[in-house]
Amino acid sequence: MHTPIPDYLHEVLENTRDDGEVATYIPELARANPDLLASALCMSDGKIYAAGDIHERFTIQSISKPFVYALALQERGFETVLDKIGVEPSGESFNSASLDPRTQRPENPMVNIGAIATHALVRPEASRDERFEAVRAGLSAFAGRELDVDEAVYASEMGTAFRNMSLAYLVRSVDGFTQDPADIVEGYTRQCSILVDVRDLAVMAMTLANAGINPITQERVVDEHVAQQVLSVMTTCGMYDAAGDWMTQVGIPAKSGVAGGIIGALPGQVGAAVFSPRLDPVGNSVRGVQAFERFSGDMGMHLL
Ligand code: DON
Repeated sequence: MHTPIPDYLHEVLENTRDDGEVATYIPELARANPDLLASALCMSDGKIYAAGDIHERFTIQSISKPFVYALALQERGFETVLDKIGVEPSGESFNSASLDPRTQRPENPMVNIGAIATHALVRPEASRDERFEAVRAGLSAFAGRELDVDEAVYASEMGTAFRNMSLAYLVRSVDGFTQDPADIVEGYTRQCSILVDVRDLAVMAMTLANAGINPITQERVVDEHVAQQVLSVMTTCGMYDAAGDWMTQVGIPAKSGVAGGIIGALPGQVGAAVFSPRLDPVGNSVRGVQAFERFSGDMGMHLL
C-alpha cells in the first residue's frame, strides 16, 4: 500500500524537530511566527502536492538570488556576467566581503556581495524602479503568477542595511558596476522582499529543473544552458558554508533564504520547497533541512 503524497508530506513535516532561532537582523522578520511550517512538491507535468501552512506568504530573501542570476545571464550573456561575478564557493558567511583576491570579482552570485552585483547587471541603463520591475516580472514568470513586495519587510531591512550598503560600495569601488550603490541596494532589498508561498517556490524550482520552461504556464523563462548554469552554482554555493553537508546528505541543487524558505531542484523530475522560519547558525531553515533530508532519503533524490 502506497501512502498518498499529501499524507507523506504531512508525516515528514510532523516529524521535523523545532529548534534554531528566527532571523532578527531584519527587525520585521523577528516578528514571524516561528511555528509556521509548509512544504510543496511540483512535478515536471506541473502537478503540485502541498501540506502544512500552504497559504502563508513570506519574503523570498536569498532564494531570489539564483533567479535574478538567471535573468542576468539571459539578458546580458555569459561573458558579461562571468566577467563580473565568479562561480567559486566562498567558504564564508553570506554577508561577507567575499571578493576573489586575484580578479576582485565577487566570489559567486549566491552570497550577498555577488547578488548585489548581479542585481546591477539587469537592465543596467534603466532607473532603479525600472530595474526592479524587470526583476519582479522575471521572478513572476518563474512562479507563473504576478508577485508583489512586502513593503514592511522592505522598509525594515533598509533601516538596517548598513552591511549590504558597505558591500555595494566595495563592489562599486572595484568597478563591479557603475550605478549608484544606494540605488542598487534598494533594488536588491526590494528583490529580497518579494512575497511567495511554498507552492510558488516549488514551481520556481521546477522551472529551473525543467530546463527553463515553467511547467504550469509552459512559458520558456530562460534558455536551457542558463538553467544549467544556475543549478550548477546552486549546487556548490546555494547553502553557503553548509554546502558540503547539504550536498552529501541531500544531494540536489538548493537555495535557502533567511525568512525560512528552502528550494531544491532535481533536474527533469521535481521542484521542492519547505518553509519554516527557525534558522541554524549558518542561516538555513532547521526544519527545512530536516525535511529535505527525509525527501532525499525516502525518494532517492540524491544525484549521486
Ligand atoms: O541581504 C540580506 O541579508 C537578506 N535580504 C537576504 C539574506 C538571506 O536570505 C541569507 N539566506 N539564508
